[in-house]
Amino acid sequence: MRGKNNLIKIIKIPEIFDDCCLYFAQTKDHIPFSIKRVYYITKAVTKYPRGFHAHYKNRQVLFCIQGNLEMVLDNGKRKEKIILNKPNEGLLIDRLIWHEMYGFKKDTILLVLSSAIFDPKDYIRDYQKFLKIANGKQAS
Ligand code: TYD
Repeated sequence: MRGKNNLIKIIKIPEIFDDCCLYFAQTKDHIPFSIKRVYYITKAVTKYPRGFHAHYKNRQVLFCIQGNLEMVLDNGKRKEKIILNKPNEGLLIDRLIWHEMYGFKKDTILLVLSSAIFDPKDYIRDYQKFLKIANGKQAS
C-alpha cells in the first residue's frame, strides 16, 4: 500500500501472463477485510459522475479492470485524486471517505469488493452531514 498518510491507498495484486492476463485478489493476502459482496459497473455514461457518498462502516476495494476513470477521495479535511486504469491496482476506500467518480469511458469496467452486504442505511449522501461526521462534530 502506498503512503500511510495518503488518502490514496493502492493495493497491488498479482498478475500472471501466459496466454492471458490473470489477476487475483484474496482476503488477508491482498484485501484487508472479508469480502461479503462483489459488484461491478459497466456502460456508465461519461457525462454523469457517480459516487458522491461515504459509508459509515463499509470498506471497499475498487479495481478498474478495463478502461479508466478518475476518483476523488475526501476525508473531510483534504481531497486527493487518482486515475484508475490498471487492472492489478485496487483503490482502498475506507470508512468515512467521501468519494466521487468521473470520466467513465464507454468500455470502463469498475469491479468493487466490499466488506458488507448492501445496506442503504450505511450511506452518507449529504456532503455537509459527512463533513460534520468526518470532523467529529456530529455523532454518527
Ligand atoms: P450507488 O452506490 O449510489 O452507486 P454509485 O456509487 O456508483 O453512484 O448505487 C446506485 C444504486 O444501486 C442505488 O439505488 C443503490 C443500488 N445498489 C444496490 O441495490 N446494491 C448494491 O450493492 C449497490 C452497490 C448499489
